[in-house]
Amino acid sequence: MLIPLLTDYEKAHITERQPLPDTYLGLSDEEMDVRIAAAKRALGRRLVILGHHYQRDEVIKFADHTGDSFKLAQQVSKHPDAEFIVFCGVHFMAESADVLSGGHQHVILPDLAAGCSMADMADSDQLDLCWSDLQQMGITSVVPVTYINSAAAIKAFCGEHGGVVCTSSNAAATLKWAWERGERILFLPDQHLGRNTAYRLGVPLDQMVVWDPNEIWGGLEPDAVRRARVMLWKGHCSVHTRFTVRQIENVRAQHPGVRVIVHPEVTWEVMQAADDCGSTEYIIKSVTQSPVGSVWAVGTEIHLVNRLARQLQPDRTILSLDQFGCLCSTMFRVSPNHLLWTLEGLVDGVVHNRVVVPDEQKHWTRVALDRMLSIS
Ligand code: 13P
Ligand code: SF4
Repeated sequence: MLIPLLTDYEKAHITERQPLPDTYLGLSDEEMDVRIAAAKRALGRRLVILGHHYQRDEVIKFADHTGDSFKLAQQVSKHPDAEFIVFCGVHFMAESADVLSGGHQHVILPDLAAGCSMADMADSDQLDLCWSDLQQMGITSVVPVTYINSAAAIKAFCGEHGGVVCTSSNAAATLKWAWERGERILFLPDQHLGRNTAYRLGVPLDQMVVWDPNEIWGGLEPDAVRRARVMLWKGHCSVHTRFTVRQIENVRAQHPGVRVIVHPEVTWEVMQAADDCGSTEYIIKSVTQSPVGSVWAVGTEIHLVNRLARQLQPDRTILSLDQFGCLCSTMFRVSPNHLLWTLEGLVDGVVHNRVVVPDEQKHWTRVALDRMLSIS
């Protein structure tokens, strides 16, 4: 018999996933807009909607607050009166909100299938094994740092082992924080964010190794690990690794004077070829505050890029670095239909798609997230 391998996410939520009822399919945009607005009005201050910048226009227009992962995590504690926090984003964001919210609050992800493929690349069983392998190799003084794009179980591990969570907006400050506490960092799950950030802080590439969780001892020799200042978990974002140096060369040839700005989940080579990089919030700020007449090529998710292009035209020209656009298909799962269904459920006293981090993970996840929020 084949035993299916489940990710931490699936183990926690596979049984809770409720399909969208048929009555919420095939509605017109106009009807959904009117009904979502009505449900919001009915719920009033009992509800706050948080929206990540990658959400579709039809969804994000209903967000009370938009932001990158860091800013949205900060928003949670600013709304202690909201009984319901509807998180239009992906699962790891809703989990973090659940941990940071009060016991009287419910965090809802409109579609529980909105995961993150990168977060799924680090499983807590693999991390336990990695940690014991490192001990067997005699590697000590390791501080685990996890990108917020990870399951709560990974965050809890980091909290319990003297580590921390970071986001793309405070990754550099977090690595400095970690090096004040240990000689080496185990950075997971995004090797690219880890490599790009450490390199910008002056760590040469030959002092970083990639830990492959599917290989014995990470596929590494103990001596190589001993020499490393950063061990990068072998994970990546399938959206951001699609950007290439060739695309940057092409856009520079076609638009002389263009500025190229990318998210730090891109590969190291793309990062070197770009002019600037930062979190989604940083990208929006940099482009919006640039001089009139500026031309930008942006290397991040297409909904953010298209929205910026529309909002800033005709004063600034905003292009997607990938001419076909890179879509995050899991962010896209949160549809206005799902938002409507969950909100009307709340009006009727029914909570659909609540995200709850298991009690045994809550304490240490909170420790790791509180450390994250204290570093900027
Ligand atoms: P930000 O925190 O920069 O918004 O990034 C979240 C993310 O998932 C990027 O892929
Ligand atoms: Fe995850 Fe990449 Fe989507 Fe961000 S863009 S949510 S890292 S899959």
